[in-house]
Amino acid sequence: MARALTISARGESPTVTETPSPEPGPGQVRVAVQAASVNGIDAYVAAGYVWDSMPHRFPVVLGRDFAGTVEAVGTDVTSVRVGDLVAGVVTGMDLYLGVIAEHVVVDEDGVVAVPDGVTAVQAAALGLAGVSARDMVDSLSLTTDDVVLVSGATGGVGALAVQLAAATGATVLATARPDATEFVRGLGAHTVVDHTEDLAAAVAAAAPDGVTAVAHAAGDAAALAKTLRPGGRLASLLGATAEQVGRDDITVTPVGAQFTPEKLRALLDAVAAGQLRVPVGQTFSLEEATQALGAFGEPKQGKLVITLD
Ligand SMILES: NC(=O)c1ccc[n+]([C@@H]2O[C@H](COP(=O)([O-])OP(=O)(O)OC[C@H]3O[C@@H](n4cnc5c(N)ncnc54)[C@H](OP(=O)(O)O)[C@@H]3O)[C@@H](O)[C@H]2O)c1
Repeated sequence: MARALTISARGESPTVTETPSPEPGPGQVRVAVQAASVNGIDAYVAAGYVWDSMPHRFPVVLGRDFAGTVEAVGTDVTSVRVGDLVAGVVTGMDLYLGVIAEHVVVDEDGVVAVPDGVTAVQAAALGLAGVSARDMVDSLSLTTDDVVLVSGATGGVGALAVQLAAATGATVLATARPDATEFVRGLGAHTVVDHTEDLAAAVAAAAPDGVTAVAHAAGDAAALAKTLRPGGRLASLLGATAEQVGRDDITVTPVGAQFTPEKLRALLDAVAAGQLRVPVGQTFSLEEATQALGAFGEPKQGKLVITLD
C-alpha cells in the first residue's frame, strides 16, 4: 500500500489515504515519488468542478507531474533502470491515476531521466508548467523585434514563460504585484507592470505603440488584448478565443499543453545547463498537501511542490 492524496467520492475533500501499490506491467515502471507539484488542474479537481466533464474512478489520486526513483520495472523496459531518478507527467483526461502519492506506476515512455545537477523538486516543478510555458511561448514565434507581455508572470507557468520569452531576444513586460517586482526582474523581465493597478496605463507607458504579443497565463483576456497593436498575437493557456476578446485585427491562439518526453528532456537539460531556473515558492510534506492546494490560489512566486520521503 502507498499513501496518496485522494478524493474518495464526489463531494468529498482531498485527504491522505492508503491506496494499492500495483506491480508494473509490461513496459511500465514503478516510481518511488520524491516530489510532485500542484497545478491548476489539481485545484479544479479538489474544488469538485470536474465530475461531469472528466472521466474518473474513485479514489481519485491528485497530481500530474512528479520526480522520483525507479524502484521496479516491468518486462520489456529498456530505457530506465532501478535506481534511476526520473521525472514525468501524467497526461490525458482520466482522473484516476495521480502522482501525489508515495508510488506511481506509469508507462516507461512517460518518464525521462533527470540529469545530474537537477533536483527532484526542480524536476517535479518543471513538468506540466514547463511544457505549458514552452508551448505558449513557442506558439507566439517571438523574435528580437517583439515586445511581449507575460500575464501571470509570478506563477508556476509564468515564471518559466518569462525566461523562455527573454531567451528569444524579445523585450519582455511581466505582470507582478509590487512585492514581486524583483522576482520577475530576476527572471529576465525588462519591465514589470502591476496587474493590481491600471495595467493598460502601465503597459502604454512602457510600450506606447502597444505590445506585439501577449502570453496569457492569468488575467482578463479582453483587457490584455487591448494592449496589443494591430497584427499582434495572443496565446492563451486559459482558452481565450478571438470572439471573446472582441478584436479581429489580432491573432488569438488557445494553447493546450501537449506533453512529450522530448519537451521535458529539453527543459531539464536547460536547467542542468544553467539556462533555465525553476522557481519554487514553497514546499509541503504529504501531510500538508491540502494546505498546498489551498495555497495555490494565493499570491506566490513560482511553483508549489509536495515532497515525499
Ligand atoms: N491549457 C493548459 O494546458 C494549461 C496548462 C497549465 C496551466 N494552465 C492554466 O494556466 C494558468 C496558470 O497556471 P499556473 O500553474 O502558472 O498558476 P499559478 O501558479 O496560480 O499562477 C498564476 C499567477 O497569476 C497571477 N495573477 C493572478 N491574477 C492576475 C491578473 N489579473 N493579472 C496578472 N497576473 C495575475 C498570480 O499572482 P498574484 O495573484 O500573486 O499576483 C499567480 O502568480 C492556470 O489557470 C492554469 O490552470 C493551463
